[in-house]
Amino acid sequence: MDITIVGTGNMGRGIGTRLVAGGHNVTLVGRDLDKAEALAGTLRSGYPGARVTVAKPGEGLTNGLVVLALPYAAALDFARTNATALAGKTIVDITNPLNGSYDGLATDPGTSAAETLAVLLPDSRVVKAFNTTFAGTLVAGNVAGQPLDVFVAANDDAAKAAVLQLVADGGLRGIDAGKLERARQLEGLALLGITLQMPLGLGFQSAWRLVA
Ligand SMILES: NC(=O)c1ccc[n+]([C@@H]2O[C@H](COP(=O)([O-])OP(=O)(O)OC[C@H]3O[C@@H](n4cnc5c(N)ncnc54)[C@H](OP(=O)(O)O)[C@@H]3O)[C@@H](O)[C@H]2O)c1
Repeated sequence: MDITIVGTGNMGRGIGTRLVAGGHNVTLVGRDLDKAEALAGTLRSGYPGARVTVAKPGEGLTNGLVVLALPYAAALDFARTNATALAGKTIVDITNPLNGSYDGLATDPGTSAAETLAVLLPDSRVVKAFNTTFAGTLVAGNVAGQPLDVFVAANDDAAKAAVLQLVADGGLRGIDAGKLERARQLEGLALLGITLQMPLGLGFQSAWRLVA
């Protein structure tokens, strides 16, 4: 599958790694093309044969699935600016809308970043995923030898199934977390995970895993 990732930072690398590991083609959109090229090189060298291309903002949005690997505020801006280009596409929201002191969420009670994005993109299929997995663990694909759980929430079943398949292709376990409204809990879960890193000395190398 051809997938676009907007953002070439830590999560662009983490999700890009899992996508090329799964045999998918990735277009990296970055405002700094040198940085995008460097990440493309990293992904290609980790997975020889991987097809990774780069594009600047305003381009590279022709693929049917677009991952927004941007800070929350930038993702909202991107959605406002590119709503027409993103219409009809599956948009993966990975954001954690942290407040300025990183100890709470900037979203209003009773909603979520994903639902806010969906309001801005009424003609797109917004899927919440990857917000509870730290970037370094995505590069590794596991923590302590255990594949990561990726919680996926969306209102559109086909879009959610496509993202769950990408997760599985990348060697991770996808968990259908229900409708997009579940993003409220997923964003809270990620916040809790972030606040635990320092006191427990986890170094962002931990993961939430559902054990039955
Ligand atoms: N890091 C994690 O472990 C983790 C885990 C789960 C979810 N998340 C979420 O994933 C998202 C990305 O996090 P990250 O760790 O990848 O951040 P990051 O390493 O700082 O990368 C952010 C990317 O967004 C770009 N960007 C920043 N501000 C922008 C703007 N105003 N307009 C356009 N592009 C902009 C940056 O471009 P430049 O490189 O040019 O600055 C960079 O490519 C965030 O929403 C975060 O909450 C992160």
